[in-house]
Amino acid sequence: MQNYKDILAEILIDERALQARIKELGTEISADYTNGNLLLICILRGGVPFLVDLSRHITSQHMMDFMAVSSYGVGKRESNGAVRVTFDLQTDIRDKDVLLVEDIVDSGHTIASVLEMLQLRHPHSLKVCALLDKAERREAVVPIHYRGFSIPNKFVFGYGLDLDEYYRNLPFIGVVDLDKYKPPS
Ligand code: IMP
Ligand code: MG
Repeated sequence: MQNYKDILAEILIDERALQARIKELGTEISADYTNGNLLLICILRGGVPFLVDLSRHITSQHMMDFMAVSSYGVGKRESNGAVRVTFDLQTDIRDKDVLLVEDIVDSGHTIASVLEMLQLRHPHSLKVCALLDKAERREAVVPIHYRGFSIPNKFVFGYGLDLDEYYRNLPFIGVVDLDKYKPPS
């Protein structure tokens, strides 16, 4: 696997800016959820670093749970709508105040179908917190109640976002130079 420096076109959001914004989001969420009924739901795997850092800035009592979905996508870096649950929640979300924590909303198909599915389980409330919003690519209408950053239509990596499953550990969000990237064989 190539060193990230060889495929990094630019650092879009550095670690300091990321962490500062996440702290602000945590403060906002803490003020909005005060009754101890909050359940953070993280979609594996991209949402993990964000969930962990965000949770540490939420001072209200909360629980967390995880789910994984796979999209019947048209390509590895795109999704087309239909998603399938590959790992389900362990928590009954009925009457919970659910906050879905996602790394990025791109076409919006993933979040739209997850929301539709979770709504059927009768949560008390259901909202979305997305670190990144690539609005230019939106195809499905999705509400984003807490938004970290709006970003341009560029393929990004780091801080949970992968390139063929690598680079999720980088502490910043970088733009990939797809011309320099050689996918693993
Ligand atoms: P959507 O269904 O098109 O909104 O796509 C959501 C999923 O696609 C995200 O959870 C990511 O896993 C992936 N994705 C979308 N854009 C990017 C990107 O720029 N870099 C890495 N992954 C991305
Ligand atoms: Mg991904």
